[in-house]
Amino acid sequence: MTDVKQEKKPDSFGFVDVLRVLGGVIFLNAFLSWWFTSSSTWGYDGKWINTSYLAHRITNNFVNLTLEELSLFNGTDSRLPIYVAVNGSVYDVSASRGIYGPKGSYRMLSGKDAARVYVTGCFRNPAEYTYDLRGLDEEEASHDVKEWQIFYEHHPKYWLVGHVQHEVIQGEPPEPCEHVKFPGYHAPRSH
Ligand code: HEM
Ligand SMILES: *[C@@H]1O[C@H](CO)[C@@H](O)[C@H](O)[C@H]1NC(C)=O
Ligand SMILES: *[C@@H]1O[C@H](CO)[C@@H](O)[C@H](O)[C@H]1NC(C)=O
Ligand SMILES: *[C@@H]1O[C@H](CO)[C@@H](O)[C@H](O)[C@H]1NC(C)=O
Ligand SMILES: *[C@@H]1O[C@H](CO)[C@@H](O)[C@H](O)[C@H]1NC(C)=O
Repeated sequence: MTDVKQEKKPDSFGFVDVLRVLGGVIFLNAFLSWWFTSSSTWGYDGKWINTSYLAHRITNNFVNLTLEELSLFNGTDSRLPIYVAVNGSVYDVSASRGIYGPKGSYRMLSGKDAARVYVTGCFRNPAEYTYDLRGLDEEEASHDVKEWQIFYEHHPKYWLVGHVQHEVIQGEPPEPCEHVKFPGYHAPRSH
């Protein structure tokens, strides 16, 4: 008998196996979640599983819209996302079509930069849906604008998509109105 050395392949655990295990774990997780919660993500439906948001995060692409372009994103065209803007910053709020879509209670905010009405709350006056902040208390305006920008940017379902170029404001600012603040509002600290 010839002594043939059996060359046994070492048990190697390669890249493909890592992928297999990973795929299995992901599938098992999704299956268990679906089994227990009827959702494959344990009920999570925030922006981190939205392909639009992930694509935006990966490409780091920010839009730079004119006011006219922004107006297309007011929810009327259901193929397009819904955008709102607060003093130049544009946010994707498509996840709340019920609030910002054509039948939503805040539909008037969509497709435009209505920074002023975020500060005054004078929703009945169409002239308030503008980024013209002239005549407002500066501290109140910058406080409220910042708060709403933070609200949209850090919201579990909304995100910053880019910016809108403001046109030069002409004419007089809207008449002063009695401000209405949302429940639980904290006024800016006065010095
Ligand atoms: C400066 C004043 C105000 C501003 C700028 C404002 C703005 C908004 C915005 C942007 C949303 C949607 C939030 C989201 O995307 O989840 C919202 C929701 C809401 N606001 Fe206001 N709001 C104001 C005052 C008020 C007041 C005074 C009330 C009631 C007394 C009110 C009641 C509500 C309710 C009930 C919702 C939920 C709407 C829904 O889920 O369909 N808001 N508000
Ligand atoms: C993900 O984002 C897109 C575009 O903004 C939006 O139309 C869609 O409703 C979102 N999907 C979910 C599941 O929230
Ligand atoms: C946006 O576009 C305009 C012209 O289309 C340009 O003047 C402006 O610098 C751009 N802004 C940014 C932040 O890229
Ligand atoms: C949205 O914008 C389009 C085109 O600018 C307009 O025809 C439509 O009436 C607007 N819809 C709402 C709800 O304002
Ligand atoms: C609004 O945006 C302009 C331009 O970026 C900035 O100079 C101004 O301070 C902002 N106003 C408020 C109230 O945030």
